[in-house]
Amino acid sequence: MSLIAWDDSLSVNVAEIDRQHQKLVVMINELHDAMKSGKGKDVMGKILSGLISYTDTHFKAEEKYFAQFKYPDAASHIKEHVAFVKKVSDFQRDFEAGRLTVSIDTLYFLRDWLQGHIKGTDKKYSSFFNEKGLR
Ligand SMILES: [Fe+2]
Repeated sequence: MSLIAWDDSLSVNVAEIDRQHQKLVVMINELHDAMKSGKGKDVMGKILSGLISYTDTHFKAEEKYFAQFKYPDAASHIKEHVAFVKKVSDFQRDFEAGRLTVSIDTLYFLRDWLQGHIKGTDKKYSSFFNEKGLR
């Protein structure tokens, strides 16, 4: 079973952004699958760099719409993005230096951050974006 199952509770009602979130879900599920089969160490580095590069693409896409539509909660939202990038970059640095072992805590941090951010923060822009014609 997947660690994160995609369902409507994760949808932000904007197709492009849902697709990007689904990619992030796939990456975290991949790490989980690899850990279950004892291959966490082999894929951790790849997943962390993949997350850093794909969240960059994804956060930029969201932030482009914030700017375009003058989204009022942009500043606090962007702060969450910055904090996440910092955290994952720290994981990557520590993993490469041998200071981060492949642990369930890291996996659960990624899962909880993504789900919490989508449900608690991203969903706040759904009706705003929809009203601007973005869906
Ligand atoms: Fe976001």
